[in-house]
Amino acid sequence: MRNRVIIGGQWGDEGKGKIVDALSRDVDWVLRYQGGANAGHTIHIGADKHVLHLIPSGILHEGVRCLLGGGMVVDPWALRDEMIGLEERGFRVRDRLFVAGGAALLMPYHMRMDELREAKLGRHGIGTTGRGIGPAYLDKVQRTGLRMGDLLLPTERLERKVIDKVLSANEVLGALYQAEPLPARVLAEELVVLAQTLAPLVVDAHLTLAGVRAGSESALFEGAQGTMLDIDHGTFPFVTSSNTTVGGALTGTGLPASALGHVQGIFKAYCTRVGNGPFPTELLGEPGDRLREAGGEFGATTGRARRCGWFDAVAARYAVEINGLDGAIITKLDVLDTAESVPVATAYDLDGVTTEVYPTGGEDLPRCRPVYRELAGWRQPIGSCRDLGDLPAPARRYLEFLEQVLGVPIVGVSVGRDRAQMIWTPTGVSG
Ligand code: IMP
Repeated sequence: MRNRVIIGGQWGDEGKGKIVDALSRDVDWVLRYQGGANAGHTIHIGADKHVLHLIPSGILHEGVRCLLGGGMVVDPWALRDEMIGLEERGFRVRDRLFVAGGAALLMPYHMRMDELREAKLGRHGIGTTGRGIGPAYLDKVQRTGLRMGDLLLPTERLERKVIDKVLSANEVLGALYQAEPLPARVLAEELVVLAQTLAPLVVDAHLTLAGVRAGSESALFEGAQGTMLDIDHGTFPFVTSSNTTVGGALTGTGLPASALGHVQGIFKAYCTRVGNGPFPTELLGEPGDRLREAGGEFGATTGRARRCGWFDAVAARYAVEINGLDGAIITKLDVLDTAESVPVATAYDLDGVTTEVYPTGGEDLPRCRPVYRELAGWRQPIGSCRDLGDLPAPARRYLEFLEQVLGVPIVGVSVGRDRAQMIWTPTGVSG
């Protein structure tokens, strides 16, 4: 089975974009299945930096076709801009990019609602990316939202439908936030224009992915965000509004479980989180700042400074279990190059009791204190290593330790931001 699901094992920003880019070279399809433009996947190719929010990173490879699955919320303005941006840089997009008709349309009023709700909640907010994700999923689950398939409607019907939606969204905006109404007719007209560009991409995903279902075409499922941000299994309510875990790959594409193949988790060699919510290994003050600077930990979507901390093996094991991971890929190992020692949280102290079990209830996690195991740092640059044997012994020991606590083989290690800075370890790092 050549198929593979790539899942964020932590709180997002694990470096999935680079890994998907590396792994999509030989596949027929790269499929996104959840989330929207809240994601920011950064890929460095030589001196060029590509940041993608909606379009799967597989688009950077000539022969690969990409699909935005029905589980996504798609901002059509953002999609058009991203397509144009790629085309301006010489990538062929139009006959290689498809969008499921069932994907939800994310409209400007969703973004407005997201911003206003967060502003109202102030420091008690979730700290969303402000991309309208929650309100767009709410509209979908309420069964009132527009879908990508609506872009195929005759112009007048599309206009009417959009105007109706904007008018009812305006009622909500006015009633809840005393906000100015959005211009219904202008938005309807804009969407009609957008439909000229985007309607040709809209497909019945069930038919388009027939080859994947039949096993004659291969697929890589590109997860966005991370396990701990899953709406059902993450640190609720400080989560995103989609299933970032493995189930999302099924519901978000309509493919059967037999199509998934390998399920691999991407874990940064340390942890980061953007937005609010519990983060047991967070480093406050100077140590956190040092990690943030070394790792360039500023959001690709919002530019926000990410909260930083040491590797959390308790949460990581939870991610292995929830997703049924059969392998892990460790990214940004080089960021730890200057650390004197590299602690790993192997357990939590919860009200004086040591536990290795991740508490899922939501009430306990904020009280968990990390119990660390200190490993020696390697204090030398590893960016030019291309083989496990090239790594300094303490770096190898760190990886072996992570493999042991994760309980699944580490099948790849990223040692720098460039495409080429990878060590592939298909049979694991423990030899
Ligand atoms: P939303 O997805 O914009 O609603 O944000 C909900 C939570 O998920 C916030 O804590 C965001 O910071 C976080 N989040 C959403 N997308 C990403 C991502 O791509 N990387 C990291 N965090 C994210």
